[in-house]
Amino acid sequence: MPDATLVIRGGTVIGPERSARLDVAVRDGAVVGLAEAIDPPRGAAVLDATGCLVGPGLVDLHAHLRQPGREEAETIETGARAAALGGYTAIVAMPNTEPAIDSAGVAGEVLALGAGCTAEVAVAGAITVGRAGTALAPLGELAALGVTLFTDDGAGVQDGALMRRALDYAKGLGVTLAQHCEDACLAAGGAMHEGSWSSRLGIPGTPAAAEEAMVARDITLARLTGAPVHFLHLSTAGSVELVRRAKAEGLAVTAEAAPHHMLLTHAAVAGYDPVFRVNPPLRTDEDVAAVVAGLCDGTIDAVATDHAPHAPESKEVPFDQAPPGMLGLQTALPIAWEVLSPHLAPERVFALMSAQPAAIARLTATDPRVGGHSAQGGPVELGAVANLCVFDPAATTVVDPMQLASRSRNTPYAGRTLAGAVRHTVLRGEPVVIDAVAQR
Ligand code: DOR
Repeated sequence: MPDATLVIRGGTVIGPERSARLDVAVRDGAVVGLAEAIDPPRGAAVLDATGCLVGPGLVDLHAHLRQPGREEAETIETGARAAALGGYTAIVAMPNTEPAIDSAGVAGEVLALGAGCTAEVAVAGAITVGRAGTALAPLGELAALGVTLFTDDGAGVQDGALMRRALDYAKGLGVTLAQHCEDACLAAGGAMHEGSWSSRLGIPGTPAAAEEAMVARDITLARLTGAPVHFLHLSTAGSVELVRRAKAEGLAVTAEAAPHHMLLTHAAVAGYDPVFRVNPPLRTDEDVAAVVAGLCDGTIDAVATDHAPHAPESKEVPFDQAPPGMLGLQTALPIAWEVLSPHLAPERVFALMSAQPAAIARLTATDPRVGGHSAQGGPVELGAVANLCVFDPAATTVVDPMQLASRSRNTPYAGRTLAGAVRHTVLRGEPVVIDAVAQR
């Protein structure tokens, strides 16, 4: 084994199928040794991982980084720092920036700003120009830059014929369209889930059908075109069941769910606190149970944060006037752990947050282009790029909004104690987080 410059000692390495108590030796950005006991060479850095799980760095399919245009809420640098603190080594930046990421110029700017951050930043391109839903964005031009995921997230593509045409192009280009499933007419005016709580609180609701109608339409378009479709932030039992049936039929559909839809319900809105306004909205107990069941049985492929920072003053308004969205990057793994580890083996929890999202975003192989990524999603094996997340399941994370790395404070978990804590994050062999402290 070549002399390591970094040794991670005492942890349990998460394999794709099973895990083992192993130390990890790293050199030149790669894993060069895996053994029960590795003596660190003189001068090597040592990270203590006693009692921790050493898994592949997490990959987030869904992060709103707000740059360009809303830097008061987040920047690519602060979002990437929050990501690293959350155990992520790669995040996909959503295109609902100002201007939108609908051209090679804006995509190139975001990729350039992401280079050198504490997590790798990939971009999702917009499906339509300005995310306005009327004309296709230059998908080919963006694909040539390495963009593999396209979405108008924040809004769904309402025009079915345009979506069909986008899917035909995407198939030819070998890229994936990701849909924010929301029928704008059905959802119009709603600020929370339409149900018992919206009636009680007097807040206009959005029915589950607004999401399910578009999931159903896009499943039929996936069947028609043969192009893959990824469903963003599924939140209803009906959506999960539609995707389950589409997968059983063999269609090329994938789906993600956000941590808040695995844990919180519309009852959280009872105090009218705008921090709980999010889109899709927090739903019922039955919906939460269906989302968790979908993650457990493989219907939902990935946990994705939908990290949506909003500057404090923009959330200090009445509930129905506040922008939807909540922070997610620094709390996702503890929440996924709390919700999923009673049902799933640790390897499966990590797969939902690393290998599977990396495969959906096609980040598993190193892209040598400027702004390109290193191989993401593991497995942690000899010769692999050392993108690692070291997680202590026995520790706890106490959420203090003022201590988060994000520029915004809109976490729905303020004051909560969550199960487990991210201890170290290693990006291409560099410890970017040590003992829960960002190194730069
Ligand atoms: O809650 C949300 N916030 N849902 C979205 O689809 C967009 C996001 C945002 O950009 O703030």
